[in-house]
Amino acid sequence: MLVLGISGSPRPEGNTARAVQRALEVIRGEGVDTEYISLAGRNIGFCTGCWGCRATHTCVIDDDMTEIYEAMRRCDGLLLGSPVYMGMVTGQLKAMMDRTVLLRVGGVFELSGKVGAGIACGGFRNGGQELVLQNIHTYLLQLDVLVIADGPPFSHSGAAIAGVIEQDELGLRTVDNLARRLAAAVKRCRGR
Ligand SMILES: Cc1cc2nc3c(=O)[nH]c(=O)nc-3n(C[C@H](O)[C@H](O)[C@H](O)COP(=O)(O)O)c2cc1C
Repeated sequence: MLVLGISGSPRPEGNTARAVQRALEVIRGEGVDTEYISLAGRNIGFCTGCWGCRATHTCVIDDDMTEIYEAMRRCDGLLLGSPVYMGMVTGQLKAMMDRTVLLRVGGVFELSGKVGAGIACGGFRNGGQELVLQNIHTYLLQLDVLVIADGPPFSHSGAAIAGVIEQDELGLRTVDNLARRLAAAVKRCRGR
């Protein structure tokens, strides 16, 4: 069992990177293996809408997505983190999301049955974290991935951080809770 965590921040050691890596640490503590990918510094071109992937389930663009496709295919759970940029996910994460359309073309949903969850990190308390989580959840649903939220005791839309992660005690609890929920969901989905 494997959970893949992806940070959609251009900052390799920023709040989102730290949030995703913290969640992965909690997930490992629950006995589930993890893999981490940061989109910082990655070469990820925009989808051009050529639909070459319809026939081949591969992309005509040769860049860092190749590695990400394989990681997404082999994981059982997918954890996506994004900073809030102008109330939405980052361009880096959206570029990655669009390129994964090949995982759902031609009536084949390659990620069906996997579970997924989101983490949003904003500078402000109500800076758009909920919309970012909705962006991530909508994306996961498009891939037929089962969406997990943070669950009790708070049970809102997922994990949300405001400001510097280490100073956001409540936000950290949503990250930890989400991580435990995701680990449990992966185990349930894999019949363990
Ligand atoms: C271009 C840009 C736009 C941003 N827009 C928002 C925003 O709409 N709402 C918000 O709360 N924070 C916003 N921020 C702040 C970041 O979301 C925040 O600093 C976050 O923790 C950065 O994550 P990182 O450390 O993983 O890069 C913005 C930052 C940048 C650079």
